[in-house]
Amino acid sequence: MSEFVAIARSADLGEGAILATQVAGLLVVLTRVEGVVYVLDNECSHDQSPFDAATLEGYELCCPRHAGRFDVRTGKATRFPAVWPVRTWEAKEENDWIWVRPPEGER
Ligand code: FES
Repeated sequence: MSEFVAIARSADLGEGAILATQVAGLLVVLTRVEGVVYVLDNECSHDQSPFDAATLEGYELCCPRHAGRFDVRTGKATRFPAVWPVRTWEAKEENDWIWVRPPEGER
C-alpha cells in the first residue's frame, strides 16, 4: 500500500477553495467542504478538461467547460454531460499539512 505524501499546507486551502497541484507525477485538484479536504484527479471524465477554473456548489465540483458536475466525496458524476466518475484520492490533514495516498497502481 502506498504511503501518504504531503501535497499542500492546510492554510493554503480555505473553505470552498479549489487548488490544483500534482503528486507522484499526477495532476490533482483539492477542495475543502465543511472543513473536510477532498482530492480528485484534475481531469474531467467528460472531455478531459482540468478543474483549475472549476467552481464549487455544496459538495459538487462544477466543470467550467460544459457544466458537468461531480460529488467531491465520491467522484460520482451528478450532472450531464458528465456521466463517468472522477477518481478520488484518500486524504488527511496532519501537522498543518494535507496528505494524500496515491491510488493503488500509481507509485
Ligand atoms: S469537459 Fe467537463 S463537462 Fe465537459
